[in-house]
Amino acid sequence: MLGVGTGSTVEQLIEEIVERRIPLAGAVSSSDRTSQRLAAARIPLLDLNAAGPLALYVDGADEATERGELIKGGGAALTREKIVAAASDRFVCIVDDSKLVGRLGRFPLPVEVIPLARSYVARRIVELGGQPVWREGVVTDNGNVILDVHHLPIDDPAGMEAAFDGIAGVVTVGIFARRGADVLIVAGDAGVKTIEPARR
Ligand code: A5P
Repeated sequence: MLGVGTGSTVEQLIEEIVERRIPLAGAVSSSDRTSQRLAAARIPLLDLNAAGPLALYVDGADEATERGELIKGGGAALTREKIVAAASDRFVCIVDDSKLVGRLGRFPLPVEVIPLARSYVARRIVELGGQPVWREGVVTDNGNVILDVHHLPIDDPAGMEAAFDGIAGVVTVGIFARRGADVLIVAGDAGVKTIEPARR
């Protein structure tokens, strides 16, 4: 059973699945946007609660290190993405080489927040050293808001992920470090390379 992420990369993957007529019994979606694409491709949508553990999750990312740590949430789908990734045995992340970094944090870090807590969470983020900017007009699939955190040095991705998780009102932080990618597929001018962080 397949978990499917969100974004333009994954949408190309869905197109390939359709074009190559790859048979899929069904897929668990990480967003309303992806659910629409899967439905249009006539791929049956499965409820994660009924699907059980997934063999594979495929998604893109906004930023990645060769250690498999990621920033995600540019498309505001980070919460369901993190849940489906956590419920999957293997996480394959597809990026182009412009997204590979030595240290996370060049891309503003998305944080999904309960609306009531927006100002409180923003003050706590300033204490952590970041500059939060409210993504005005955006409401997530879960009815929450997004703060994009600029200029936050992320030297310890797993530690920073835990720090955000400890702030009341934070639903999900876009650092995927404790459950990062098992495999990175990186496209560049010279071709495609595969990185398996656990083997490095
Ligand atoms: C969605 O919230 C994001 O996590 C996306 O997975 C990420 O932004 C990658 O999107 P693209 O494939 O469009 O670059």
